Amino acid sequence: MTLGKYLDPKRYLRRLRQARALRSYDLASIDREERIKFQTLGLDPDAARPHLDAALASLGSKSYDDLTGTDSVHWLVFAALSLSPQATSINRILEIGTFRGKTAALLKVLFPHARVTTLDLPTSDPIMQQTYRRDTPEQLAEYRATRDARVKHGGIEFVEANSFFLPGRTPGPFDLIWMDGGHLYPEVAWDFCNAWHACRSDGILMCDDIIPDPRGRDAYASDESHKVISYVALRTGISPVYLLKRRNPAWSADPTTRKFVAVIRRP
Ligand SMILES: C[S@@+](CC[C@H](N)C(=O)[O-])C[C@H]1O[C@@H](n2cnc3c(N)ncnc32)[C@H](O)[C@@H]1O
Repeated sequence: MTLGKYLDPKRYLRRLRQARALRSYDLASIDREERIKFQTLGLDPDAARPHLDAALASLGSKSYDDLTGTDSVHWLVFAALSLSPQATSINRILEIGTFRGKTAALLKVLFPHARVTTLDLPTSDPIMQQTYRRDTPEQLAEYRATRDARVKHGGIEFVEANSFFLPGRTPGPFDLIWMDGGHLYPEVAWDFCNAWHACRSDGILMCDDIIPDPRGRDAYASDESHKVISYVALRTGISPVYLLKRRNPAWSADPTTRKFVAVIRRP
């Protein structure tokens, strides 16, 4: 049965595209483009790096590495925001999708004065045990223990609910909202809608794992969040900035499967 995997024409074409893309990946021009995007947001990625590394070290984690590792640009944005003049007005932060609680803990270190609310599925939700290797009782118990140890910090509020129920469980307004729950339809539609209405005017909305090209869809991410954001942009005039999620060529060389993090200022 494994032979079928190798003979699958779609898989073969994807590999071929990936190999071609790796050969033409131009890191210097990617770096230039991403730097301009940070400038557009009024953020300084160079100052943010050492600040982020210090915050990660305080949590016992290794330094930020999006080039040979899999760290994602949202951490760099949070660090840059925490150094920006806007930092003092970021007092309530919402994260949709806690997972193991690493980003919630990092947000608390970067914004020590802020109240961080983070939400994830209850164990009874069918998605919980079908995703992210939480299917056996042992895996689930280990996952919950890691998450709970991180979110039981003072100043972090953990809400156990499907994000569909967000308005009743965690009413806004929030100053910064990080959308990192389900990245497919239908979740992306209600998460963006709920987040939009829960975000204060001039607050910041960020959304993870956006693959603008429909051919790049995988089991967890797709072009659906891009469609939702484009729909809202057409009607509100927002100008989303799509930052490359990581510079690692293994993840980002192929333009069809490349992932982005959207940063949006709420009018
Ligand atoms: C990619 S992980 C989040 C990673 C985390 N934000 C971090 O940076 O460490 C996605 C999480 O979203 C949760 N999730 C998926 N659909 C959800 C929903 N409808 N409501 C709440 N959480 C959801 C999953 O259970 C999973 O733990």
